[in-house]
Amino acid sequence: MSQLADVCATDVIRSALEQDGCVIAPLLRSNALPLLINSHKRDSIHALSDEIRAVALDALGTTGGVLFRNFKVPTPLDFKRFAASFGMPLGTYEFGSTPRSKVFTGVYSSTEYPAHQSIPLHNEQSYTRQWPSRIWFHCMTASQVGGETPIADSRQVYQEIDPAIREEFIAKGLLYVRNYSSTLDIPWQHVFNTDDRIKVEQYCQAQGIEWSWNADGELSTKQLCQAAVQHPVSHEWVWFNQAHLFHISAMSADLRQALIDAVGPTQLPRNVYFGDGTPIPNATLDEIRAVYARTSVTFAWQAGDVLMLDNLLVAHGRNPFSGDRKVIVSMA
Ligand SMILES: [Fe+2]
Repeated sequence: MSQLADVCATDVIRSALEQDGCVIAPLLRSNALPLLINSHKRDSIHALSDEIRAVALDALGTTGGVLFRNFKVPTPLDFKRFAASFGMPLGTYEFGSTPRSKVFTGVYSSTEYPAHQSIPLHNEQSYTRQWPSRIWFHCMTASQVGGETPIADSRQVYQEIDPAIREEFIAKGLLYVRNYSSTLDIPWQHVFNTDDRIKVEQYCQAQGIEWSWNADGELSTKQLCQAAVQHPVSHEWVWFNQAHLFHISAMSADLRQALIDAVGPTQLPRNVYFGDGTPIPNATLDEIRAVYARTSVTFAWQAGDVLMLDNLLVAHGRNPFSGDRKVIVSMA
């Protein structure tokens, strides 16, 4: 809250608030994250003044997340234009880990997991060595029940993880192992957006990913990645990995056993080890999951909302839902 108090203490922001018909305040009483910028005149999202933009960018660097509410965002293209207006080129979703569809270049559906499933909190593509620095979500249709996008401050997650766990993760790094499959997980052709094995190999080579092809033409990859990183601007440490998603313990016990019985422990569609190849205990990942659970904040989507996050400072997830829900995503 103190960071926000500092931001809002300037005269510039007070006058911008009065001029532009926006109310700027934390959305939630209990947390500075996210900062709400609420348009009372229901202005076009493209009409944001330079002063309000400056507040948003400042908040992005301090609290890590901004929610734009009650602005007009008529089409997905307007959402893309708004995301692009912050000056960073919008990226593609290559080497993805979840099913998404492309709305058009630079805009994707949010992860298409069944509605009854939760998506655990994570920083986008933190299972790789190259990740988006910012991510935008646009709620086109809010589900009637559930479907929130919980968020958590990755600095707080880092601080609250047992220092012994933290140090071991950072010292050893994480080895993500994937066995792509058209029956058990996402096929490699979809993950790499190509049918061309040479292009896959070139991508892997460039990214420091080890790869191998089996006799059936299926691909396996291994990549050694970080457990935590320092934010490039603030130099604060953030927990930045997806061990708690990739580890076999992320599955229900029934499914876990069925998969091990079917393909064996080394051919699981995805798993993660310490960087030296030793197993990560289930209990360690449960502790990390518990930290995410107690640091996350949740709010209900309203149709039209745009949430802008610093992908290093803030993790996001998805709660189960029922009814229609449409949230699209863009990354920079
Ligand atoms: Fe995500």
